[in-house]
Amino acid sequence: MAEGTFGSPEVVEEEVDILLIGGGMACCGAAYEAMHYIEASGADISIKMVDKAAVDRSGAVAQGLSAINTYIGGEQDPADYARMVSNDLMGITRDDLAYDVGRHVDDSVYLFEEWGLPIWKQPGDEGKSLKEGGMPVRSGKWQIMINGESYKWIVAEAAKKAMGSERIQERVFIVKLINDKNDPSRIAGAIGFSTRDHKVYVYKFKACLLAAGGCVNIFRPRSVGEGTGRAWYPVWNSGSTYSMAAEAGAELTMMENRFVPARFKDGYGPVGAWFLLFKAQATNAFGEVYMQKNKELLNDYPPYGQAAVPASCLRNHLMMKEMKEGRGPIYMDTPTALQKLAETMTPKEIKHLEAEAWEDFLDMCIGQAGVWAGENIEPEKTPSELMPTEPYLLGSHSGCCGIWVSGPTDVGAPESWSWGYRSMTTIKGLFTAGDGVGASGHKFSSGSHAEGRICARSMVKYVMDNKDLAPEFDTPVSELVEEIYTPVRTFLEHKDYSTAIDVNPNYITPRMLQFRLQKIMDEYVAGVATLYQTNEKMLEVAEHKLGMLKEDAKKMRAKDLHELLRAWENYHRILTAEAHMKHIQFREESRYPGFYYRMDKNFVDEENWKCFVNSTYDKKTQEWKCFKVEHVDIVDKTQLMKK
Ligand code: FAD
Ligand code: ADX
Repeated sequence: MAEGTFGSPEVVEEEVDILLIGGGMACCGAAYEAMHYIEASGADISIKMVDKAAVDRSGAVAQGLSAINTYIGGEQDPADYARMVSNDLMGITRDDLAYDVGRHVDDSVYLFEEWGLPIWKQPGDEGKSLKEGGMPVRSGKWQIMINGESYKWIVAEAAKKAMGSERIQERVFIVKLINDKNDPSRIAGAIGFSTRDHKVYVYKFKACLLAAGGCVNIFRPRSVGEGTGRAWYPVWNSGSTYSMAAEAGAELTMMENRFVPARFKDGYGPVGAWFLLFKAQATNAFGEVYMQKNKELLNDYPPYGQAAVPASCLRNHLMMKEMKEGRGPIYMDTPTALQKLAETMTPKEIKHLEAEAWEDFLDMCIGQAGVWAGENIEPEKTPSELMPTEPYLLGSHSGCCGIWVSGPTDVGAPESWSWGYRSMTTIKGLFTAGDGVGASGHKFSSGSHAEGRICARSMVKYVMDNKDLAPEFDTPVSELVEEIYTPVRTFLEHKDYSTAIDVNPNYITPRMLQFRLQKIMDEYVAGVATLYQTNEKMLEVAEHKLGMLKEDAKKMRAKDLHELLRAWENYHRILTAEAHMKHIQFREESRYPGFYYRMDKNFVDEENWKCFVNSTYDKKTQEWKCFKVEHVDIVDKTQLMKK
């Protein structure tokens, strides 16, 4: 085949048994584990991993991290973990999934340490690994401290070593999944394009792990103008997981859920180490600790407000009262925290402590260290502003939107929660993990990796059980290639109509379209513009405007491969945004105060809405269908309160 050109890409078709879409924590876990199972099975199973970026520095762990937020250890058990996850997500999670992550996650952490990740140890235990019983430095009940600047590099290296570089394809953006011609509820392939060469890649497979992270940049970010591009969650994760799964017909769950993290203002620096390790407190502008001052607000939300650590959204709720009533800015009182810790320290130890304060950000969120340096902030002297950020959609951190998956069969869950292969979606052969799995948050980096490993086992089994399966595409490849390259054709056809390349009545730039999406979501679907408030009428307007945006999205242009990437990222974002909006519309209560408020239903209604909201999308009619699914507690929650 002749080499591709911008207008006419080369089409490369490949067939494998298993495709891993994404090269983040979940897929790296799957890559490592799958190779073990494939070797152990003795079967001839082919596998490939494809990532839009470079695996060494891709996804949410790209900048490194300073803690592993899920490590069970010997002090607690997976049932405690499932309780915490449920409480933090206002009671509506799948205990079966959380419990399963809880009983596998420590194995991933042992592997990270074996591969060279430095994990902080208690004095005296420095030479002892966690596996050998070494005690970690816990920042919180679930979190352990690491020197994690190179965390992703280390995890990626293990995946690469296991698979071999020839099985990893980087800088290919997957745009669509392809269903099976003979069974629409089965997956048969995926199609994407190179972000470097003029090539379209078509993969045919039996099983696929779709773990392309969560969704960032559907809401107008707080950082605009010269700050554009800053966000807390990784900007590259654009809802591909949710949108591609939905288009393939997979059932989604809890898409109304979102995460609005309280972060260090402008640099989006994480707060966990400050609250948990340094024991800092957050205050209003007058030095009042809002978690104490406003604690009676928690009584409106029993039982979630009564736990020893109230749910993340409720902590925001208490902070927002101060903001709404004019007592901002909100501050993280770093000087008092550091002074208290320093009381019993030698000058050398104090220097070390101050270095740790900087390293927390240098390891994980360099931009925040930049803000400190640029604004002359010395954390031991000056408090830093905190701010609730724009909303993010994710299933692995303190949120739980995602895809409905088959759970484990040995934990007493309802039969309908399990359909054979753990982590398979409602589409045969399509699996997910990490941010992709709905109704079970708080997995973080380690839990996402563990979930990827769990998937690997299931996928190898699925492939072995379906040896004779011969997947066939339901759509001709030429049609799919045409569709993917439409933004390029639109550009080439109309570019000479005007003299300014960005001003043209025949197309819209992906950048402009993204602004429109963000404006709609921000102003009508409870973004920062309305202090996270919406109502039925505002959602109706959003619905209408998103419908029109979808029409205009067909007119996006791509003047180069970079814009083609941006165009399809936007397409994924729009579908994800639409799912979010539809679910908020359907759930007639405000389940996550502090994350969003439906002001016309500003309460938690345990009687009618203690249930999952699931949905399906029909790509032909472009219609969503939302419905209730009964929630069942598997782990006893009465032990949760004041523990
Ligand atoms: P990711 O690791 O984000 O991987 C997604 C992958 O999909 C990426 O490689 C991406 O390039 C790829 N991709 C996306 N779209 C496509 C597409 N269309 N085609 C092909 N590839 C695609 N966890 C902790 O345990 N401790 C912490 O201290 C901690 N701090 C954090 C701090 C920050 C700033 C952030 C952003 C996250 C933090 N987390 C932390 C959470 C943790 O990083 C995530 O939970 C975890 O990375 C999720 O794993 P994942 O595999 O689902 O997604
Ligand atoms: S990070 O992943 O970007 O570092 P973050 O700083 O919010 O996220 O959280 C790190 C960990 O600390 C998470 O497990 C989170 O649930 C926990 N955490 C953050 N703030 C608090 C708090 N005030 N109380 C209890 N746990 C908290």
